[in-house]
Amino acid sequence: MTATDNSRRRTIRSFVRRAGRLTPSQERALLELWPAYGVDFTPELLDFDVLFRRKAPIVLEIGFGNGNSLVQQALENPSMNFLGVEVHEPGVGHCLLQAHDAGLSNLKLIKHDAIEVLTQQMPLVSLQRINIYFPDPWPKKRHHKRRMIQPSFLELIHSRLRTDGTLHVATDWANYAEHIDDVLGHSALFRCDERREHDGDEALDRPGTKFERRGLRKGHRIWDWRCIRVSNNH
Ligand SMILES: C[S@@+](CC[C@H](N)C(=O)[O-])C[C@H]1O[C@@H](n2cnc3c(N)ncnc32)[C@H](O)[C@@H]1O
Repeated sequence: MTATDNSRRRTIRSFVRRAGRLTPSQERALLELWPAYGVDFTPELLDFDVLFRRKAPIVLEIGFGNGNSLVQQALENPSMNFLGVEVHEPGVGHCLLQAHDAGLSNLKLIKHDAIEVLTQQMPLVSLQRINIYFPDPWPKKRHHKRRMIQPSFLELIHSRLRTDGTLHVATDWANYAEHIDDVLGHSALFRCDERREHDGDEALDRPGTKFERRGLRKGHRIWDWRCIRVSNNH
């Protein structure tokens, strides 16, 4: 493939790889704990029952950051299987260490672009719940196209959620909250079941997160949504 073909294929990404140094323990975790918790990206559908060695509802967290909320939810919900997707290596290393310390057996991590993971690895109608906590807000107008929550993204996750599946989103950026209200309000694929605006004291069915605390320190408000997948016969 030529360089031109390559660039034509490149899609708009919701992230830039942040330079962040791995601590020695994170580096070790990525080597030593990856075989237990890591799932390599391959363009093939996953078999969740084989992956987790049991049948249980799957919760997917996209962009888990340092993984604190993901590990806490996995600990609090042992009857569910948790899958986290993140591109930031130090965050993945941090999460591996926490998962190991907590002795979790219901958590797996994928270190790759969530859009490609959803498209290529997630079977249709397979996920019970998708959590997206404090996605990158891309505040500059010319960068709004990089925001993860877009109509085409809703179509993608709608196709991967089970018929009774739910989507949970939170942000601390007023302008992103307006954008999310707009995208959800125009979507026939999801029905907003609950929406909260608060000061970090009324998180909707989720633990607090690092980026939430960062936003609160800056004086931001917090918005939470829980949306139900609307059935369209598939
Ligand atoms: C603002 S941080 C929030 C982290 C965490 N959820 C929290 O609340 O502390 C957004 C995270 O999403 C990740 N991210 C953005 N786009 C992604 C994508 N397409 N696939 C996987 N991770 C992504 C970034 O690397 C970053 O760690």
